[in-house]
Amino acid sequence: MPEPARIARHLLAWYDVHARVLPWRYRPGESADPYRVWLSEIMLQQTTVAAVKAYFLRFTTLWPTVADLAAAPIDDVMKEWAGLGYYSRARNLHAAAQMVARDFGGAFPSEEAQLRELPGVGPYTAAAIAAIAFGRATMPVDGNIERVTARLFAEETPLPAAKPILTKLAAGLTPPQRAGDFAQAMMDLGATICTPKSPACALCPLNADCAAYKKGIQATLPRRADKAARPERFGAAFLLFSEDGHVLLRRRPPKGLLGGMLEIPSTPWTNPGPTDPLAHAPVAAEWKRLPTRVEHVFTHFKLTLDVYAARVGSRDPAFGVWTPQSDADAAGLPSVMRKILAASDGEGDHSTRGRRGR
Ligand code: ADE
Repeated sequence: MPEPARIARHLLAWYDVHARVLPWRYRPGESADPYRVWLSEIMLQQTTVAAVKAYFLRFTTLWPTVADLAAAPIDDVMKEWAGLGYYSRARNLHAAAQMVARDFGGAFPSEEAQLRELPGVGPYTAAAIAAIAFGRATMPVDGNIERVTARLFAEETPLPAAKPILTKLAAGLTPPQRAGDFAQAMMDLGATICTPKSPACALCPLNADCAAYKKGIQATLPRRADKAARPERFGAAFLLFSEDGHVLLRRRPPKGLLGGMLEIPSTPWTNPGPTDPLAHAPVAAEWKRLPTRVEHVFTHFKLTLDVYAARVGSRDPAFGVWTPQSDADAAGLPSVMRKILAASDGEGDHSTRGRRGR
């Protein structure tokens, strides 16, 4: 049976040498800024380390403290979040910053229960902040830690039923000292050595403690119940360009998918798709279907969009937000909307017309 104190000793010794250098990380012994820990953990929810790095640096440059973030206009926060996905996180981020600034005098609480009162902070994130920022002996269990734990204990119950079992087993590994480093060491081990496929067991500091490795079943763990296929939806998007190089955008309703973000007008996204997409066009115009389809995978469905483009002479503000094409990417468009814009490939761009022979 894996022995927690031995595992903590081996893993922390490994972490002291091999910890990934990340912009929100602190070296062992350095005291962590809870604001930066919280911000990184919110950004890292369902998002890769590689994707988060640049956003973290940008946010902490623009807003070095929680008071700065609390005082920022929400539209600026949404705009800077664009491209990172799961946009309710950005709204919650801002609301939580205001709560900390107002109700907690600018200091993050250190108790998990209080942290969980902040919008956007669930059990995982509360445990991560408590351990990393405040050294509390608690264990945030993410996918990496689930995998490492399933292997250490050779736990063969399939996910998701295995979740509470793995959470308990992982919690039992938490050392009384350096709990934040230990959690991050588990994450790093999962990301670099105890990887989903072909784990590098020969390099692993815990191979002598690993029950799955002893049995030779490590690559098959954690087991998973068969997943239902992701449902599909279809629709059409409408790129309306003005003669002077603007594109028509709209603000989505505040709640729901991509809530409050700018969008390119489109039909509803349904299955089956709309039978008469042009009936949903934002204005009557000479719509031309572009050769490229756009595909985008959301958490709960896969979306395929036809793209139509048209040009109008003047910019009627009643249609929506006319944005210079050159600024549209910077205006804070979610990824799916950027893909739609890219599908036009210079369609609305005067400067390329001659060169492309159109
Ligand atoms: N994923 C979630 N939190 C993380 C952290 N602190 N370091 C690396 N990956 C993470």
